Amino acid sequence: MNLDRRLFIASLGGAAAVAGMDHEARAEALEDYMSDQLEEALDDEKKKFPSVAELEGQIETRGFRRGAGGVFVSGRGNVKKLPPMPANATLVDYFKLRFTTVNHVLQSANRAMKTGMTEEIIFACLVHDVSQTLIKVDHGWFGAQMFEPYVSPKVAFAIRYHQALRFYPDHEAGYEYPDLYKTMFGEDYEPPPHIQAAYKYTRNHKWYMEPRLVTVNDLYAFDPNVKVSLDQFLDVIGRQFKQPKEGLGNDNSPVAHMWRAMAIPDAPL
Ligand SMILES: [Fe+2]
Ligand SMILES: [Fe+2]
Repeated sequence: MNLDRRLFIASLGGAAAVAGMDHEARAEALEDYMSDQLEEALDDEKKKFPSVAELEGQIETRGFRRGAGGVFVSGRGNVKKLPPMPANATLVDYFKLRFTTVNHVLQSANRAMKTGMTEEIIFACLVHDVSQTLIKVDHGWFGAQMFEPYVSPKVAFAIRYHQALRFYPDHEAGYEYPDLYKTMFGEDYEPPPHIQAAYKYTRNHKWYMEPRLVTVNDLYAFDPNVKVSLDQFLDVIGRQFKQPKEGLGNDNSPVAHMWRAMAIPDAPL
């Protein structure tokens, strides 16, 4: 990677600011700068994907594991104090105050709406990745479980299996293996047995197209100028999500603790 000294110094606030930094701070700033540059470089046309071994080699360079939920770790700097959740918290409250993947799921649901998907698929797209707030590893299964008491079986099926289908192209349906996965999992990644088995099971299921259409509408290239508002989905949420009157986390359902964990992630135990 080429380092442009002038840009780097400017990014830190100029030569005078750099002069006031100690050696350690400079090294840290350089590292941050390089990692930003690296991310930008990955976005370029000339993509170079890491290998599985290279990604494994990074494990001990972090103070967290990559499968940890978004509300529990900050990729950059310290975590922020969270606003309290209202009593009787609704799904919309979680969207506004806790979920960490909002832009991504709004864009996916917007695309599903624009391409004339059924309301169940639009809703599944709207919530397909919000479980990553709690935990990223196996987020399809966690997500389906979190939503199961409140949605139709088809929606839960779509959430659960979109995770496995993402690894398998379906040209006919218009889904290709995403470059992002080569970056995230490694170019030579082979899905583990539980993903392979889930794919086989789903491929032969009568509801195959439900999770498949979630993957088709799963967007990773955002247009930063398109701002999708949750408001356009309020009617869909009203029809597709059985909001518990006690509030999510307080309804004593088998999954209430999962919602509570997102509501109070600073609880030490
Ligand atoms: Fe996902
Ligand atoms: Fe997604």
